[in-house]
Amino acid sequence: MTTLPIRIASMSDDLIMELTREVRFSLADGDADGKPLNSWAGWPASDRIAPYLVLRATVRGVVDRRIGYLCNIVTIDKAVRDEAIPQLRDVHREDLSVGCPYEAMLTRVVSPIEGAMPDNVELIRLELRATPFLAYTWRKELLNMIQITQSFEFAAAHRLHCADFSDEENRAVFGKCTNPNGHGHNYVVEVTVGGEPDAQSGTVLEVGRLERIVKERVIDEFDHKHLNLDCAEFAELNPSVENITRVIWDRLNGAFGSANLAKVRVYETPKTFAEFCG
Ligand code: NI
Repeated sequence: MTTLPIRIASMSDDLIMELTREVRFSLADGDADGKPLNSWAGWPASDRIAPYLVLRATVRGVVDRRIGYLCNIVTIDKAVRDEAIPQLRDVHREDLSVGCPYEAMLTRVVSPIEGAMPDNVELIRLELRATPFLAYTWRKELLNMIQITQSFEFAAAHRLHCADFSDEENRAVFGKCTNPNGHGHNYVVEVTVGGEPDAQSGTVLEVGRLERIVKERVIDEFDHKHLNLDCAEFAELNPSVENITRVIWDRLNGAFGSANLAKVRVYETPKTFAEFCG
């Protein structure tokens, strides 16, 4: 009989871990304190038009060996529901006429949530999802900076091959992806920019401007194209998802004024993605 070399961590080792809890809610004037009937969908329920938002709080600390918890998720839920949601509802109500940037909403709730965390954990990340495709993120290590991540899509054909390989070598490395006439993907691009919110506008970068820049520099150039044949960058360069990610980074880096490009992630399929942070 063989035994597997499993290492059992000593009980004296501190197990440092991160835990993320997602809280879903609407800014409707519903019964926020009532028992949720469908917390999967978020509560209070939106029975009138109201923003539906998601807050993801990530904490880090030492896992309690006795019960196996880093932090009870009930504590995180309570912090978000007691400290953040009422404030977000107030901000939304107050600023409905002038519009309140998400950066301001996020910045406003960091300290109250931090203050409601137990002593053994620290809040390290807070992500406010405005839509399934647009997120604002505060990270403790980035101090006063806020990151904005927006998703985009384009459809394109490509062929993976190396010109100096024989047909046999190309088939051995790239398989059916080296089909001479190409094949297609629906690519999803996530662009993350970061910076300090502008003192006047309160935004790091207006989302409309972010979208216009990415559309002009990337989507319009790649969408419904054959990357190898239609895009100069891929005339010689193999359009792998890694190289596409790098090319998109180069096309966007430096394009956002005072906001910095922080990350580009490209999904070739829902199961394969590459990311580059410069
Ligand atoms: Ni492919």
